[in-house]
Amino acid sequence: MKKKKPNYKLRRKIAKLLLIIIIITPLIIINKTKILNAPLYVTNLKYTNVLDSMFEINFNNKEAKKTIDYLKNNNKINDETDDYILKIHNLGYNNNVVKYVIKNLSKSEITDFLSRKYNKDFEKYISCKLFSYKKYERYLSYENKHKDLSIDDIVTRIELNLDKTYYYDSVLIKNPNAIDTLANKYLEIPEDYEPTDLVDMDDSYANNTYGQKQLRKEAYEKFVQMCEASRKDGVNFYAESAYRSYEYQKNIYNNYVYNNGQDEADKYAAKPGFSEHELGLTIDLANIWTITTKGEEYKWISKNAHKYGYIIRYKKEWEDVTGYAAESWHIRYVGIKNATAIHKLNIPYEEYYIKYIANKK
Ligand code: DAL
Ligand code: ZN
Repeated sequence: MKKKKPNYKLRRKIAKLLLIIIIITPLIIINKTKILNAPLYVTNLKYTNVLDSMFEINFNNKEAKKTIDYLKNNNKINDETDDYILKIHNLGYNNNVVKYVIKNLSKSEITDFLSRKYNKDFEKYISCKLFSYKKYERYLSYENKHKDLSIDDIVTRIELNLDKTYYYDSVLIKNPNAIDTLANKYLEIPEDYEPTDLVDMDDSYANNTYGQKQLRKEAYEKFVQMCEASRKDGVNFYAESAYRSYEYQKNIYNNYVYNNGQDEADKYAAKPGFSEHELGLTIDLANIWTITTKGEEYKWISKNAHKYGYIIRYKKEWEDVTGYAAESWHIRYVGIKNATAIHKLNIPYEEYYIKYIANKK
């Protein structure tokens, strides 16, 4: 008798089917359990934790709705808040955004957020350290006018009030005496501020021909060390301008305005009350010729100034942020730690200050 050949094809099919059942069944069970258990899991928790638990279990819309319905039917959460989750989801946002909005925005802000259409960049916005929903409208309007900027740049610039009118929308600096104080067209130095630790600069480090140059003590000591180090490398520079009183800055500015008109003046000179020179922490360098970006002095400063706490304050690529045309001769003392960090990051002092200093104060 001929032996019947086993039907391998059929066996393979059955094996495949079994394998699929073995893999799929636990997934279905887990998912079911997840949905069924979720309301129980969240019932005893406070509302904010309800959200946490949902995100932990990684709910999708359907699951979230089911849970919310359950909680609603059992009077576990109130009507107002529950719908937010779904509405934000329905706008097209993911859990990350939902969580941020529910946890950080006030009721009126959520209402405002829900009245807007989906913004694909919203997740980028909320990941910015300085993001604040209160400024959302300002970000959007600035973004509209500066399409080439990153979201982080936009948030940083709004924090610096760069969307406002300089000089007009300025605020008074509270701590002009702090070594790391930021002064610019939006941050005004009180008219009567005069550093108490100004020292006279020696002739070998400053041009005193047209009046004694002065600087705050700490900045001067470091400047002397920097000059000595540069001279060892065969590079020579000195201070052509250092501390300026409010009155002195007023003369400089008014002269600029008189000779070049207001718009030009505002590119090159600060209005009195807004110049870092009034802090006693800033120097305009000179040699026989004014320092240029191509000169050996600038190269030396670029490479070494941070070791003595100094930074190049106004660079070409930062003009939009600093509000001034590049000045290769203008250096500012901010302390070695800050200067070293800025040297590494290669960012304008405005950005450094707002991200790493202001937030800590
Ligand atoms: N030239 C710089 C901006 C000042 O006047 O302080
Ligand atoms: Zn200067």
